[in-house]
Amino acid sequence: SRTAAVIPAAGRGVRLGPGAPKALRALSGTPMLVHAVRALAASRAVSLVVVVAPPDGAAEVKTLLADHALPERTDFLVVPGGATRQESVKLGLDALPPGVDIVLVHDAARPLVPVDTVDGVIEAVRDGARAVVPALPLADTVKEVEPGAPGEPEPVVATPERARLRAVQTPQGFDRATLVRAHEADVVGEGATDDAGLVERLGEPVVLVPGHEEAFKVTRPLDLVLAEAVLARRRA
Ligand code: C5P
Repeated sequence: SRTAAVIPAAGRGVRLGPGAPKALRALSGTPMLVHAVRALAASRAVSLVVVVAPPDGAAEVKTLLADHALPERTDFLVVPGGATRQESVKLGLDALPPGVDIVLVHDAARPLVPVDTVDGVIEAVRDGARAVVPALPLADTVKEVEPGAPGEPEPVVATPERARLRAVQTPQGFDRATLVRAHEADVVGEGATDDAGLVERLGEPVVLVPGHEEAFKVTRPLDLVLAEAVLARRRA
């Protein structure tokens, strides 16, 4: 069995503030995407990493990967992405060669995921799960709202029981055929903010494994401070 990782990295990163596409911004001097690629390639099971670059940035991303040390035993491919995360993942899946039967999808925006989390996801797929998601309990209570006009107070609709909620991370791991089927089934373009969500719509089971605090998503400026603190602690 061969395992590949698809890394969608085509987002603009608007919430992070003005600047380069998020995946290309530096964390402790190294682009976030390079951290993410290294984090996935750190797993001995991952033999191919497909990076989905900003639509006009594939050449730049190829140069970036060539300029940074990456494991010799791993193959790398770069393809241009799309307008949404889901489209970008689909373009990455289309680029997978025959022989790959397990696919991980990992956000470039989660550059610090530990290799044990990656291996845990792969192991669960190897053990027979068709869709595997790393997840953590929530610290915050979550409210469902009726979204209103910007600046207007939003009425609360419900408070889901926190103990039954999980915050999900990546890499999410899949049997390749199941993930391809899930993406192809979304012809209406309903969209989903994660890949497992598409698999759920097929009616296929999705299972959770423990996530990791360091797999957090770099979204807002404070996340950059946290990410650099984690890197500094690792180097200490
Ligand atoms: O926007 P969000 O934080 O959900 O993005 C998650 C991941 O999807 C990021 O790594 C981002 O680069 C990627 N993405 C993409 N193509 C898009 C939008 C987001 O590859 N059009």
